[in-house]
Amino acid sequence: HLALSFLEESALHRDIIQQDFLDTYNNLTLKTLMGMEWVSRHCPNASYVMKADSDIFLNVGFLARELLQPQLPPKKDFMTGYIYRNTGPLRSKAYKWYVPREVYPNNTYPPYCGGPGYVLSGDLAKKVYGAAQTLRVINMEDVFMGLCLHKLGVSVTNSPWGLFNIGRLEYEKCQFSQLVLVHHFGPRDLLRVWPDFQGGNKTCPS
Ligand SMILES: *[C@@H]1O[C@H](CO)[C@@H](O)[C@H](O)[C@H]1NC(C)=O
Ligand SMILES: *[C@@H]1O[C@H](CO)[C@@H](O)[C@H](O)[C@H]1NC(C)=O
Ligand SMILES: *[C@@H]1O[C@H](CO)[C@@H](O)[C@H](O)[C@H]1NC(C)=O
Ligand SMILES: *[C@@H]1O[C@H](CO)[C@@H](O)[C@H](O)[C@H]1NC(C)=O
Repeated sequence: HLALSFLEESALHRDIIQQDFLDTYNNLTLKTLMGMEWVSRHCPNASYVMKADSDIFLNVGFLARELLQPQLPPKKDFMTGYIYRNTGPLRSKAYKWYVPREVYPNNTYPPYCGGPGYVLSGDLAKKVYGAAQTLRVINMEDVFMGLCLHKLGVSVTNSPWGLFNIGRLEYEKCQFSQLVLVHHFGPRDLLRVWPDFQGGNKTCPS
């Protein structure tokens, strides 16, 4: 489990995209928008796109088969994940997610999908990128995506309860085989559960 250096990984897999800004927590919105721009330009026909942090458990098979259902026509103007509703900006400077009134005047945020992982239809990724160009960027990327949706007049879509988990959940193979995402899974946890999700490992009742 040797870690590759940045340049080695780039040379080996050719899967790293870079843009000219500092990769800091408060620039996360720029990083997400970079992804939306990439999708808009290079994957114009993608049915769905997912933004995911690296510290999550993600059950891609279940997401694709059960939630998105590739046998159906691709959904349009679709975004789902763990949905936050009736939240608003924290106005005290003591918070990591402090947002000054000058940056965002309203007291509430539109509904948005939690940052650890959310799914969009390909058409919406492009529209979000376009809407973002007309808005003042704020540092919380997930809230900002919600602001783009609000601007577009698009609503987030609820997923069945329990598929996207923002809190940590103790690993249980058959439970995890029936959900999409669990936050707070580090590299060690992921290596441990990986074999359970390889092709042909059908030991859970479906
Ligand atoms: C974001 O990136 C820009 C460009 O590299 C940099 O000037 C700025 O300090 C960064 N902002 C934060 C909040 O890290
Ligand atoms: C996207 O779909 C259009 C129409 O079907 C096709 O002409 C085009 O080549 C596709 N583009 C890519 C990048 O796959
Ligand atoms: C902010 O408040 C104004 C005035 O009530 C409203 O028109 C606007 O839609 C709100 N914006 C968001 C992002 O909720
Ligand atoms: C299937 O999962 C078990 C543990 O649940 C693991 O020991 C085994 O190696 C996995 N099989 C494959 C083919 O990955």
